[in-house]
Parts: sequence; C-alpha cells; structure tokens
Amino acid sequence: MRVKKTHTYIGLLFSGLALFSSPLLADTPLNDELTQTMKLEPNLDNGKKIFKQCLVCHQTNGWGVEDGTFPQIAGQHRSVIIKQVTDIRAGNRDSPIMYPIVKESVLGGPQAISDVAAYIESLPMTPTPGLGEGGDDARAEKLFYRKCAECHGADGSGDKKRFYPRIQGQHYEYLLRQVKRIKEGKRRNANPQMVKRIAKMKEKDLKLLVDYISRIKPPKDKLAEPDWKNPDFK
Ligand code: HEC
Ligand code: HEC
Repeated sequence: MRVKKTHTYIGLLFSGLALFSSPLLADTPLNDELTQTMKLEPNLDNGKKIFKQCLVCHQTNGWGVEDGTFPQIAGQHRSVIIKQVTDIRAGNRDSPIMYPIVKESVLGGPQAISDVAAYIESLPMTPTPGLGEGGDDARAEKLFYRKCAECHGADGSGDKKRFYPRIQGQHYEYLLRQVKRIKEGKRRNANPQMVKRIAKMKEKDLKLLVDYISRIKPPKDKLAEPDWKNPDFK
C-alpha cells in the first residue's frame, strides 16, 4: 500500500489556527478534566491494575472484538483515550455501556485515567481486525486522501497533539457504527468539520472508506505478532 506523507494546505491552516487557540493544539473543545489529566505523569503499573476493569469488554489484549461490539483501544494515543473517557464522563459523548464503568465513583479521578490511558497506549495492536467486504480500492484511497487524511494522517495514525484518533486497523463494524453516528449528528463530541464532510457522503462510499481504513496496517512498532497474548494477564 502506498503511504503518502504530505499534508494538505487545509491541514496546515488548521494547525496554524490551533496553535493560537490552545497550547494543546486542539481544534475541538477540551473539557476541564481533560486539560487537567493531560498534565499528570502517568504510572504504568497502576494503569495495569486499573485495566482489569476494562478487559471484560476490550479483552486482555485491548483488541476488542472483531464484530466491532467493543472497539480496539490498544495502541490508541493516550491523549485520545483521555479525551474519550473524560468526554463520556462529562456527558459530551453518549455511551450508556461505558458510562457506568468510567464514572468517577468507579474508576477514580484524573490520575486513574492518566495511568490506564498510558497503559492502553503501550499495548501493541491486533494484526487481524474485523474487515468489510472489500471493493474499489482506488476509489477508497482517493476518498480517504481527499476527505480524511489531513486530520487522521495519510496512514490513519491520527495526531496525538490534536486529539485526532488513530483509526488504522480498527474493526470495520465499529468504524461503520461511528461514521453513521457522526453522519446523523449523534456523536456529539465529533469535530464539526468532519461531521460536515461525512454528512455529505453516501452510505455506499462510507462503507468503502471504512473498509479501506480497517485494512491499513499500523506501523511495525505498533503491531503485535499474530499469536501475541498480553503477558500481564496470562
Ligand atoms: C461493559 C463493556 C465495557 C467496559 C467494561 C469498558 N468499555 Fe470502553 N467501550 C465499550 C464500548 C461498547 C465502546 C464503544 C462506544 C459505544 O459504542 O458506546 C467503548 C469505547 C471506549 C473508548 C473509545 C474508543 C474510541 O475508539 O473512541 C475508550 C477509550 C474506552 N472504551 C476505554 C475504556 C477503559 C479505559 C475501560 C476500563 C476502565 C473500558 N473502556 C471499559 C465497552 C466497555
Ligand atoms: C478536521 C479534522 C477531521 C477530518 C477531516 C476527519 N476527522 Fe474523523 N475525527 C476527527 C476528530 C477530532 C475525532 C475525534 C472526535 C472526538 O473527540 O470524539 C475524529 C473521530 C473519528 C472517528 C471515531 C474514531 C473512534 O475511535 O471512535 C472515525 C471513525 C472517524 N473520525 C473517521 C473519519 C473519516 C472516515 C473521515 C473522512 C471522511 C474523517 N474522520 C475526517 C477529526 C477529523
């Protein structure tokens, strides 16, 4: 697969604007707990302990499940994990499943979030995500570069400084569920620029696009061997 490293002018413009508005380089609103948590020094050992509360659903590897019921979180940027967890806590992203697990009385305060996020980021990613049916690869690639790459990166690695998620190698069905929610305006913490673009796209193209994204291989240093098992939870 060809990976282009170029960024578009629009991407540069965004980063320029973001530089003025926030030291954390975000172009989406940051909730208070997120800003607070980003400043903390994470403790990986404690993160490992807290991760026990996540593995029923996200699995011991953090790979989630291939049918997309539970997303892969392994290898995600720490900043993105913290944003999603604190957004769910603050009521900025609806997840009736996650909310009771990550609310403060159960998970703990910002330090707990900082620790578990760092642990999850350190886990290697699945080499076998759930995939779609495949299709017109050239068209999918073009759509991705035109509509998504300036924020999520040419290879879907995202951008930790701007809280743009790593989306490469994520399960197809989970990606599809999220882009549908984004299209319908139901993922309330989504970047408005992205919502505008996805709202204009046909369902057929969205399927093609997320199938392509699920097939992008994460970089070697983020990818697990096929039979890898998290040694912390054997
Ligand atoms: C009971 C099942 C369950 C448990 C336990 C659980 N999660 Fe989740 N998690 C989900 C589901 C389902 C989603 C997808 C969001 C949705 O569809 O509502 C999710 C989404 C996430 C996301 C966002 C992923 C993304 O790509 O945006 C993060 C981060 C996350 N979980 C972290 C955690 C952490 C950390 C723990 C442990 C403290 C945890 N989860 C425990 C079910 C669970
Ligand atoms: C202007 C920047 C921008 C563009 C362009 C953009 N995104 Fe996003 N995307 C984001 C941000 C920021 C988030 C995280 C939002 C949040 O904090 O919940 C996100 C989240 C997502 C998610 C959810 C990831 C997860 O783990 O739950 C998916 C899927 C996604 N984007 C797909 C796409 C696709 C497909 C395109 C192209 C059609 C695209 N995005 C274009 C900024 C962008």
